[in-house]
Amino acid sequence: MDETELWVEKYRPKTFDDIVGRDPIVSRLRSYVQSRNLPHLLFAGPAGTGKTTCSIVLARELFGEYWRENFMELNASDERGIAIVKGDAAHHGKIKTFARTAPFGGATFKIIFLDESDSLTSDAQSALRRTMEMYSKTCRFIFSANFPGKLIDPIQSRCAVFQFSPLQDADVEKYILRISQAEGLKIDRDALYYIVKNSHGDLRKATNTLQASAFLSSDISQNTVYQASSSADPREVSEMLLNAMGGYFQRAIGTLDEMLFDKGLSSTDLITQIHRKVFDLGLSDDALLDVITRVGETEFRIVQGANDRIQLESLLAQVGIIGKREKEKAKTSRQRTL
Ligand SMILES: Nc1ncnc2c1ncn2[C@@H]1O[C@H](COP(=O)(O)OP(=O)(O)OP(=O)(O)O)[C@@H](O)[C@H]1O
Ligand SMILES: [Mg+2]
Repeated sequence: MDETELWVEKYRPKTFDDIVGRDPIVSRLRSYVQSRNLPHLLFAGPAGTGKTTCSIVLARELFGEYWRENFMELNASDERGIAIVKGDAAHHGKIKTFARTAPFGGATFKIIFLDESDSLTSDAQSALRRTMEMYSKTCRFIFSANFPGKLIDPIQSRCAVFQFSPLQDADVEKYILRISQAEGLKIDRDALYYIVKNSHGDLRKATNTLQASAFLSSDISQNTVYQASSSADPREVSEMLLNAMGGYFQRAIGTLDEMLFDKGLSSTDLITQIHRKVFDLGLSDDALLDVITRVGETEFRIVQGANDRIQLESLLAQVGIIGKREKEKAKTSRQRTL
């Protein structure tokens, strides 16, 4: 395995056929390619859902071997990005140089892809809108945004909007299996399930987790994935909480120490995982309320810089007290019914 090459780049689709899911989007984009024309586009949606990928594939399909010459990617969130579209800079900047020369290979326009366009200030956006108008004959803009609501109306209204929702589990699975096969990996069902579920429809996250796991072993089990993604085994987190609740405090602390010190998990990741698990403990509403409040306080203190071990131990102690209270409550209600 070439350890330096990122799989998110290596396996980025080159044609529409390589793209998983996204059927309605792909068919609209195909029709632009057929008509060899394009309005300005707005690709809206969360990270890792194919906005950059679809823009590049669109350029490849439209421009063939000349796609690099006719496609420019700018990142709005870095300083240069802003300078490029802002005021004077727009007249002397990269956009002008790019837009001024004729498109290559018989194309009638070029594409400017503006990543993270929602990070532009409204002043910069107004400047950008003027730039759009100035070069509308020779350039089409594609805006990529996680939060499209941050774009000013005049930009939104000039674009055809495409909503990129998180990918379906089945599509993430298909893509991960495709890479695994190409890389000659063995991946068991649980590991696959875990990667898919934890990606929450973000293919970049899923791909990076797979690559980190493959770095540890080409025979990937659920444990490999936990190690690679440096998150705790959810079963261990549950067990720790159940032990604390059941009064086995020493055992719970043992698991905590193992996770913090032997595995080197970060306390902020751990508290996030604890938060996910408290709902599965079978607590009464009252007790759940109490535990969630404590989890929130613990997280706040850790973020503020308090000692993580003390804070997490204290949380487990509180869970223990709440567990004991639950048991007593159950006992008295049983006695009452007898
Ligand atoms: N529908 C898809 N089919 C195949 N691969 C995809 C798809 N969506 C995303 N990917 C893969 O996931 C990775 C991230 O995708 P991409 O860079 O397009 O995300 P993005 O939506 O632009 O995210 P961001 O908002 O962070 O810029 C890439 O490696 C790409 O190959
Ligand atoms: Mg992107």
